[in-house]
Amino acid sequence: MTQFFAVEAKGIEKSFGSTKALRGVDLQIDAGQCLGLVGRNGAGKSTLVSILSGLAKPDVGEVFFHGEPAPSLRDIDGWRKQIATVFQHSKVVPQLSVTENVFLGSPEVRHGMVDWHRMRDATKAIIDEWNFDISVTARCETLTVEQLQVVEIVRALATGARCILLDEPTSALERRGVDRLFERVKQLVDNGVAVLYISHHLEEVFDICSDVTVLRDGEVVVTSPIGKIDKDQMVAAMVGELPATTNVANELGVLLKRSSDDEDVAVSQGLVVEDLRVTSSRGDVLGVSLTVKPGECVGVTGLLGAGVATLGRAVAGSQKFDSGKMTLNNRALPSGRRDLSLKNGVGYIPENRQLEGFVAHLGVGENVTMTITNRLARRFGLLSPRRRDGAAVALTKALSVISAGMKQPVGELSGGNQQKVTVARSLMSNPSLIVAVTPTRGVDVASKSLLLQSLLEAARLTGAALLICSDELDDLIECDRVIVLFRGSIYHEFSTPPFDREALIAATEGISFSDRTAT
Ligand SMILES: Nc1ncnc2c1ncn2[C@@H]1O[C@H](COP(=O)(O)OP(=O)(O)OP(=O)(O)O)[C@@H](O)[C@H]1O
Ligand SMILES: [Mg+2]
Repeated sequence: MTQFFAVEAKGIEKSFGSTKALRGVDLQIDAGQCLGLVGRNGAGKSTLVSILSGLAKPDVGEVFFHGEPAPSLRDIDGWRKQIATVFQHSKVVPQLSVTENVFLGSPEVRHGMVDWHRMRDATKAIIDEWNFDISVTARCETLTVEQLQVVEIVRALATGARCILLDEPTSALERRGVDRLFERVKQLVDNGVAVLYISHHLEEVFDICSDVTVLRDGEVVVTSPIGKIDKDQMVAAMVGELPATTNVANELGVLLKRSSDDEDVAVSQGLVVEDLRVTSSRGDVLGVSLTVKPGECVGVTGLLGAGVATLGRAVAGSQKFDSGKMTLNNRALPSGRRDLSLKNGVGYIPENRQLEGFVAHLGVGENVTMTITNRLARRFGLLSPRRRDGAAVALTKALSVISAGMKQPVGELSGGNQQKVTVARSLMSNPSLIVAVTPTRGVDVASKSLLLQSLLEAARLTGAALLICSDELDDLIECDRVIVLFRGSIYHEFSTPPFDREALIAATEGISFSDRTAT
């Protein structure tokens, strides 16, 4: 008897205009197998996911489920029975409740009536199992990024599909959320479900996948059992031939105004925050004071709900604060007025790039230069698109943004490249303060350090103060100081690098390092 794969993709090709996103991809997932799929930003992972989940049609090639050809694209129910997907970018409808989103498009019907009771109970059962504190009747627009991610995951699990695709499911989850997801995925795999798992956190792939496939430039370059490949080999396969390394510092130095050009810097104070209090469903800030000197990089970290993202939003002017004082180089920063904060020299890399980071239908060039249109126009008179794009080219190149050109709408870029555009945009305004909230989310391993290095270099070269608010320890390791928040207040400050990872993690949990080492 022939054994069929749970999912099989044969010879998949897919182009967008002149971009060849997939060039003849073959991929199989067995029932009871968790296959990792890794590759650099723009390698084609999400494109493959949209083809395997029936959202896009391949130009060439075919998809099979258990040996049967996949349903036609119009047969949405047919696809839904086969496969459930957690997409990289939230597909949750903000105006609908949690339950409505979980059962969107496939409501439970009994005696010809939509059975809300049953759907709510089913949704609640899964959320309880996850120990999450989300009301099934809450409107999704009131939820945090992590809670939305959980709704997506619950939706995929609720379908009972035998194949599940997870495209960076942990990017918005904190450590405990990740542990719960992994437990659940392991259960599913043990029960014979086929799982495709995409992540830029390679240690996760080692943790839960039995095999891994590496995509590079739309082609499968390696497929291997997880025990037969190590991290360095995986990264080497992802990166391939290394292009001549660009010297980020040099490029940025040319692009950005040097601090020596600016007489004010010697006397400027940088950022001073005094007794800041902010109320937010994403976690309150309960009286935080801190300083970031010009050219200094300060990291802020903590568990979800500790107020880390709230602090970043408030400092950037994207969220109103209740009381306290903030000044940047002796000038008061406004409360909840992003436009004024930008004018006052605050660059911002927001947590939710889809919402605040860029305008999807505008080109790369336009997005990157959005914050400086006035300045360019002042310097060059009327702003021609050519001049604008010229200003954006060098910076996007320094950050290794992959796009079909400055005119390509940012909505068409891969997730990690969208994030790089957001970073470029914040640097472009030559800010005196850069507030970066989880700046490397979704960025591939090879670009991560490039991106962080660019931020640090930009701060050092221009004398900007840099505030990195992040739960990823890799983002904090190069900071000059790291402040740990616990339930809205400063719990501990680490003031001398190198920082001990274990100590940082302990502090986020509210356990002091000395207590820990004493035991
Ligand atoms: N709708 C689209 N229009 C034009 N180009 C697209 C579109 N969707 C994807 N692309 C291009 O296809 C390529 C592959 O993108 P894809 O999103 O699959 O990458 P990825 O591997 O998921 O990257 P990331 O790790 O950043 O999420 C990229 O060059 C991207 O710009
Ligand atoms: Mg992707």
